[in-house]
Amino acid sequence: MRIAFFSAKPYDRRAFEVAESRHDITYFDARLAPATAPLAEGHEAVCAFVSDDLSAGTLDILAAAGIRLVLLRSAGFNHIDLEAAEGHGLVVARVPAYSPHAVAEHAIALALALNRRLHRAHNRVREGNFELAGLLGVDLHGKTAGIVGTGRIGAAAAKILGPGFGMRLLVHDPYPNPEVQAMGASYVDIDTLLVESDLVSLHCPLTPESYHLLNASAFARMKPSAILVNTSRGGLVDTAALVDALKEGQIGAVALDVYEEEGDLFFQDLSDEGVLDDVFARLLTFPNALITGHQGFFTAEALSAIAETTLSNATAFDRDGCLPEPNAVTAARHTA
Ligand code: NAI
Repeated sequence: MRIAFFSAKPYDRRAFEVAESRHDITYFDARLAPATAPLAEGHEAVCAFVSDDLSAGTLDILAAAGIRLVLLRSAGFNHIDLEAAEGHGLVVARVPAYSPHAVAEHAIALALALNRRLHRAHNRVREGNFELAGLLGVDLHGKTAGIVGTGRIGAAAAKILGPGFGMRLLVHDPYPNPEVQAMGASYVDIDTLLVESDLVSLHCPLTPESYHLLNASAFARMKPSAILVNTSRGGLVDTAALVDALKEGQIGAVALDVYEEEGDLFFQDLSDEGVLDDVFARLLTFPNALITGHQGFFTAEALSAIAETTLSNATAFDRDGCLPEPNAVTAARHTA
């Protein structure tokens, strides 16, 4: 199958070249968007990342160019207009699970760094400043961790925080996970979780129901010492309300690996231009905010698994004209 691969970084090429078997891949550095979609002409599939624009405008051009399959090299699919894809008869594939540990471990790394102010300590030591004032943390052992979404990644995070660190686990998910219940976690409503947790980590998908789940009223209910970690999707957090909550000391600290408007920022080097997004720039000024640029997935194991599943999705579509169940994304199953 001829695949047009967008937003190709050197590490993507390496992972796909090692895994590649029978497909003919053209790598484009460009981000997929209406202006670059015509590059897909002459291919049967496009391969896209979370930063690509898969809105109706792009899909119209892809369909007209003869594309039949959209290979998402991500678990999340909130960045594609599924109704528009189906309207064009485009089949959409994703990588439902690659390494839940990659994202869970990154969430915990962020929580630990924030709690012990490692981002500040590192800068101080480099400048020969060994003063400890301002670096005081707390023992996480014995505190309460609140996990929103207990699927693959949430369960991996729960295992580290509960059995691992000795934290009390409060979790929230419409579908309880027996593996997480077996860790002694209590399923509670979102209000109880927000009110009682010392650490809140988000691991649910972005859907119309979860959009701005953490908004002004949520921040008002959280402990003023609470640490919030979002490695899931930027739209789960109302960023303007988060800035206000940090200004007013309503929460203790925040770590973000994702941001609502990350499409214009992440996965590119803007160091010569500066950050033009004022809300994001404001977030960067807080000493108790720690931000990474959507790197939760970025481990060697996850990249290999993404490459292998993406290519096997292409092979299955080529051979059978359809995809294995959990890998197929349809509007009926996923936007109901
Ligand atoms: P999963 O599908 O295994 O688990 C998601 C869980 O969230 C499910 O149990 C579901 O019932 C629950 N859920 C759905 N709506 C909810 C709500 N409103 N409140 C509470 N729980 C809710 O997904 P997985 O693999 O654990 O991934 C979770 C999310 O992590 C993905 O949706 C994606 O947005 C994000 N992610 C981030 C990455 C990064 O690099 N930072 C990489 C991969 C995924």
